[in-house]
Amino acid sequence: MDLFEYQARDLFEKYGVPVLAGIIADTPEEVRAAAEKLGGVTVVKAQVKAGGRGKAGGVKVAKTPADAEELSKGIFGLDIKGHVVKRVMVAAGADIKQEYYFSVLLDRANRSYLSLSSFEGGMEIEELAVERPEALARVEVNPAEGLDLEKAKAIAVAAHFPAELIDKVAPVFVKLYEVYTGEDATLVEVNPLVLTGAGDIVALDGKVSLDENADFRHPEHEALEDKDAADPLEAKAKKLGLNYVKLDGQVGIIGNGAGLVMSTLDVVSYAGERHGGVKPANFLDIGGGASAQVMANGLDVILGDAQVKSVFVNVFGGITACDAVANGIVQALEILGATASKPLVVRLDGNKVEEGRAILSAAANPLITLADNMDQGADKAAELASK
Ligand SMILES: Nc1ncnc2c1ncn2[C@@H]1O[C@H](COP(=O)(O)OP(=O)(O)OP(=O)(O)O)[C@@H](O)[C@H]1O
Ligand SMILES: [Mg+2]
Repeated sequence: MDLFEYQARDLFEKYGVPVLAGIIADTPEEVRAAAEKLGGVTVVKAQVKAGGRGKAGGVKVAKTPADAEELSKGIFGLDIKGHVVKRVMVAAGADIKQEYYFSVLLDRANRSYLSLSSFEGGMEIEELAVERPEALARVEVNPAEGLDLEKAKAIAVAAHFPAELIDKVAPVFVKLYEVYTGEDATLVEVNPLVLTGAGDIVALDGKVSLDENADFRHPEHEALEDKDAADPLEAKAKKLGLNYVKLDGQVGIIGNGAGLVMSTLDVVSYAGERHGGVKPANFLDIGGGASAQVMANGLDVILGDAQVKSVFVNVFGGITACDAVANGIVQALEILGATASKPLVVRLDGNKVEEGRAILSAAANPLITLADNMDQGADKAAELASK
């Protein structure tokens, strides 16, 4: 989960990373009040989860509260890379002498952490990486050893910070790493980290991505979720404890096991090409112990997608045998009643497949079509969706 800048700022503050005061505002009037409260020069900053806000006109310096209010009118409603600005942060203005870059992130390919840092900030980091790669220090941080003061100093040296600045920036790197590990983040980035006229190091802009797999350790992270932005079907599925991802297509998919569901998406995509270009509508893995209730919940979410025209249930019976799954499907359709009005293609294989098929045949539900195998099932579901 990516955070807004103001949320990253709050986390930084909690960990003792030097930041400037910032107040969020949702209307120009609130911007004025915030600027009055902060006093002096302020910066009105668009809060969207997209980069390049400054270039898009989403970061403006204001000399007075009246200026801030006026400038904010041009920022609210601004479209930055498809994200419309609904909220801004009014930040205290910094007297910037120099701008630097620092980040620590999960390096999946190397199964490690990586810190990126540069004495040369003020430029898009992607550009710097391409045009002057020697200016961007890439230093591995071993998760088992962490990033202590000594390591932080080595990073600052690698990033070409001059000697007199090393002792200033290194403790900030350590604190940013504490944010990274303490919050179970996959990215903590500061661009720019600045040196002020008064000689202080301050994090002026922060990007933080949190690892959702660690949510169980952080009940407080739920409050950071952007509820407005969540897809309503995904939100519903999440509440029901389902592994569901909404896609843009017409064939609803239910399977057990992430690998099987991924291949089902492929097979349905191929089949869709023969039937007017229909596509899979979602990823949904109902896992091992697929009870009738879980099947009903899954079908309920999928059938709630107005784009869906047919559903392909693709299950390989293992510990949960096909007869249990078949009973689950029959009961799920009973539970859902009239909500279940779209055709269902079911492919069962594996443990107790004969029993499972017999149960579905006996139920003789006109919505259900039994498929002999995965390819045939995908083809039938795509055909039904294209009608
Ligand atoms: N509080 C502040 N005081 C003075 N100048 C600021 C302040 N915040 C930002 N700036 C200036 O504005 C520039 C852009 O701000 P910021 O880094 O927050 O946005 P951005 O880089 O455009 O957005 P993103 O990082 O999302 O791409 C900074 O490099 C800095 O020069
Ligand atoms: Mg920035």
